[in-house]
Amino acid sequence: MKARPVGIAGLGSYVPEKILTNADLERMVDTSDEWIRTRTGISTRHIAAKNQSTSDLACEAAKAALDDAGMEAADLDLIIVATCTPDMLFPATACILQEKLGIKGVAAFDLEAACSGFIYGLAVGAQFIAAGIYENVLVVGAETLSRIVNWQDRNTCILFGDGAGAVVLKPAENGRGFLSFHLGADGAGADLLKLAAGGAAMPASAETIAQGKHFLHMNGNEVFKFAVRVMGDAAEKCLNKAGISKEEISFVVPHQANMRIVDAAMRRLDLPLEKAFINLDRYGNMSSASIPVALNELYRANRLTNGDILLLVGFGAGLTWGSTIIEWSK
Ligand code: ACO
Repeated sequence: MKARPVGIAGLGSYVPEKILTNADLERMVDTSDEWIRTRTGISTRHIAAKNQSTSDLACEAAKAALDDAGMEAADLDLIIVATCTPDMLFPATACILQEKLGIKGVAAFDLEAACSGFIYGLAVGAQFIAAGIYENVLVVGAETLSRIVNWQDRNTCILFGDGAGAVVLKPAENGRGFLSFHLGADGAGADLLKLAAGGAAMPASAETIAQGKHFLHMNGNEVFKFAVRVMGDAAEKCLNKAGISKEEISFVVPHQANMRIVDAAMRRLDLPLEKAFINLDRYGNMSSASIPVALNELYRANRLTNGDILLLVGFGAGLTWGSTIIEWSK
C-alpha cells in the first residue's frame, strides 16, 4: 500500500489570560528581570486560572483549529493530546477533551514525550492518515506547567508558562505537507529533567511532598548542552530524509525553551537567526504547546506562503527529540 501524503487542514492556539512578568517573579524569588532576559530571553509567561486545566486549554486550541479547517468536532477520527501535565494520571486528557468537544466514540489517547510531544504527536497522527486508516486527526500540545513548578525555585520557575496549540491533519491532495519525520530518545538522560513522585516508582506521600518531589526538577546546564547538540542533529537528519537542503528552509519553528539555545542551534545549523520564528519572550517554555503555538502565530501573521519549507524541531525530557519538514500548503 502506498502512503498517502498528509497535510495541515487547520491550526489554533490558546493561552490563558493571566500574565506573569519578570517583575512579578522578582517579588517571588531572588531573581531579576535583567538575569531572566539575558539568560533566557523570556519577559512574560501566561498562567492558567484556578478553574482551568490542561483539557480546558486544549479545548480552546482544538476549537480554533477545527474552525480554521472548516470542520466540526464530529468530523474527527482520532484525538491525540501530547502533554506532560495531564489533567490526571488517568484517564487520558484526550478523552476528557473529547467530552468537552461534545463528541463520542472517536479514538483518543495521550502521548508523553515532554517538549518533543507535539512533534511525536504529528508523526503518530500522520501515520494513521498515510496508511489510509483515518481521514481527520486532531493533534494537540497542551500544558499547565504552572501546576508542577516549584514557585520557590528560581532555577526553574522563571522558565515555564501555560498554553495549548492544535492542528487538524488530513490527506494532502496536492502531494504537499509532511515530507519527513525524525524522532529519537535517550533514556540514559531520564534523570536530567523529571517529576519524580506521583507515579508507580514513587507514589505520592507526605514524605515526597515534604521533599518537593512532586515538582519538576532539572539539571539546566546538562539539558542546555544536550538541546543545542540534538536540535542541530535532528534538523539535519530530517532534511536528509526529505532531500531538502538547508538553504531551501523558509522558517524554522524551534522548541521555545531559551533564546540562547535557539541562537546556538541556528549557528550550529549555519542558518541566519532571522529564519527562526521566536515567541518565547512572551510565553516562556510551554513544553509540548510551544511549537504549535509558534506555528499558529506564524500562520496567523500571514507569513506563510504555499510551497514554503518549514522545519519544526524540538527536544525535551526523556530525553527526547523530534523534527519534521513541512512543505506548506493551505
Ligand atoms: N535568577 C538569578 N540567578 C539565578 C537564577 C534566577 N532565576 N537561576 C539561577 N541563578 C543563578 C544560579 O544559582 C547560579 O549562581 P551561582 O553561580 O552562584 O551558583 C547562576 O545563576 C548561574 O546558573 P546556571 O544554571 O549556570 O545558569 P545558566 O546560564 O546555565 O542558565 C538556565 C540556567 C536558564 C536554566 C539554562 O541552563 C537553560 O536554559 N537550560 C535549559 C533548560 C531547558 O531548556 N529546559 C527544557 C525543558 S524541556 C521539557 O521537557 C520540560
